[in-house]
Amino acid sequence: MPTVKSIVLAFATAASAASVDSKSHAGSDVLTLGVLGDYGWTGWEPASLNFCNNVMPRLVANNITIPRELQNDCDAGDRGNIANATAEQTATASYIGKVCAMKNCSAIVSVGDNFYSSAIDFSTGGVNRFEEAWSTMYKGGIFNNTRWYQTLGNHDIVKGQAGVDFQTKIAPPVRQPMGLPYYTYDLAGKDWKATFAVVDSDCFINKYQEDTSVYQNEYTLSCYKDKQVQVDFVEQAFAKSDAQWKFLQIHHGYMSSSTNFTELAPFVEIVEKYKGIVVNGHDHCLAHYYSNNTNFILTGGSGYAEPGDCNYGVALGPYAKFLGANSQGAGNGFVTMDISKKSVNVEYYARDMSYEGGDLYPVKNQMKPIYSFMVDARK
Ligand SMILES: *[C@@H]1O[C@H](CO)[C@@H](O)[C@H](O)[C@H]1NC(C)=O
Ligand SMILES: *[C@@H]1O[C@H](CO)[C@@H](O)[C@H](O)[C@H]1NC(C)=O
Ligand SMILES: *[C@@H]1O[C@H](CO)[C@@H](O)[C@H](O)[C@H]1NC(C)=O
Ligand SMILES: *[C@@H]1O[C@H](CO)[C@@H](O)[C@H](O)[C@H]1NC(C)=O
Ligand SMILES: *[C@@H]1O[C@H](CO)[C@@H](O)[C@H](O)[C@H]1NC(C)=O
Ligand SMILES: *[C@@H]1O[C@H](CO)[C@@H](O)[C@H](O)[C@H]1NC(C)=O
Repeated sequence: MPTVKSIVLAFATAASAASVDSKSHAGSDVLTLGVLGDYGWTGWEPASLNFCNNVMPRLVANNITIPRELQNDCDAGDRGNIANATAEQTATASYIGKVCAMKNCSAIVSVGDNFYSSAIDFSTGGVNRFEEAWSTMYKGGIFNNTRWYQTLGNHDIVKGQAGVDFQTKIAPPVRQPMGLPYYTYDLAGKDWKATFAVVDSDCFINKYQEDTSVYQNEYTLSCYKDKQVQVDFVEQAFAKSDAQWKFLQIHHGYMSSSTNFTELAPFVEIVEKYKGIVVNGHDHCLAHYYSNNTNFILTGGSGYAEPGDCNYGVALGPYAKFLGANSQGAGNGFVTMDISKKSVNVEYYARDMSYEGGDLYPVKNQMKPIYSFMVDARK
């Protein structure tokens, strides 16, 4: 069956979504994937300003517990960004479609933060947002025939289990039948195979366990206790795999220019052992890090790009090989990976965008990569 991604099919395809992509272009030498993250802003409506600024502080003073999703939907930073973030997601979605048409992308690999600011659940608002920020955003052209492999990010779990269930069981771009937030899939070409292991890094972040965190909920409390399950899952997925390429698909970055999530070390040890590659998001910019004998590909610039997340383009150490930001802005964009038996060619694409009345992150030719690197097959 051709994997046509229409709104109808996007809902409840869990049962038919195989964990191995049987549609995979098993005859081709090279398969190109689009890798992107941190995008789903469209349709988000912040909580009322009066409530956030005037009512909430009084309720807090009176010891009234404010639901975490409401606290999160009062976030001043996100509120300030929403208009531009929506415009940037929309323009970048169409840019990704253009580059992917040129490069013949066969699948999209998402690294999470699919729905800002407090995720979506199985409610009228959730269903409508799923359509606005995803189904009708990434459609037509190349998107009609690209499978979409989703990951959960911190914004996706604010509603707890209800949000996780919606994205893994009810409206899953591609999930394995049991609808877990961690899963594995294989892609194959004529003479090569790649195994992807997808995990939910939200379960590993120590700060999210604190009472004061908007990310603390029954889901994160429980999956934090079961962290080893996901670690073992990745170990087994890679141990069992005879694929020459192994990828860890994860939201948070072990290496970063703003916060290194060192809690993710158990995964990095496994990736290093199997000579894998990490694709991650969370920081809203494009970057390439190299550390612990591992390439880290940061693709978080597909929605609202933030130069601070890439330390305004200033490398904090030799591990930072490329930062898609400068002192004034960060580029919106994504990454393509051309996988073959011989190599993975990683290309970073940034949209030529003007904002704040100027060109804060100039891109000479947006149809050419602003940066690329090659990973050669290793024994
Ligand atoms: C709120 O709780 C704190 C500590 O539990 C207490 O000291 C304070 O009096 C309470 N305030 C109100 C308005 O109930
Ligand atoms: C696009 O890629 C697929 C493999 O995913 C391949 O079968 C097809 O021939 C390619 N098309 C073009 C026009 O290169
Ligand atoms: C994509 O699919 C939609 C219907 O789902 C169709 O209207 C549209 O023509 C298709 N576009 C391409 C380029 O195939
Ligand atoms: C992340 O780790 C690297 C290497 O240890 C270090 O140089 C860098 O300063 C760290 N980044 C941050 C934001 O702390
Ligand atoms: C990565 O390398 C750093 C510096 O050598 C080391 O401190 C850290 O423990 C390593 N991480 C892992 C997961 O092995
Ligand atoms: C955000 O949008 C406003 C108009 O709504 C515009 O004036 C401003 O330049 C934009 N800022 C960024 C960083 O895009």
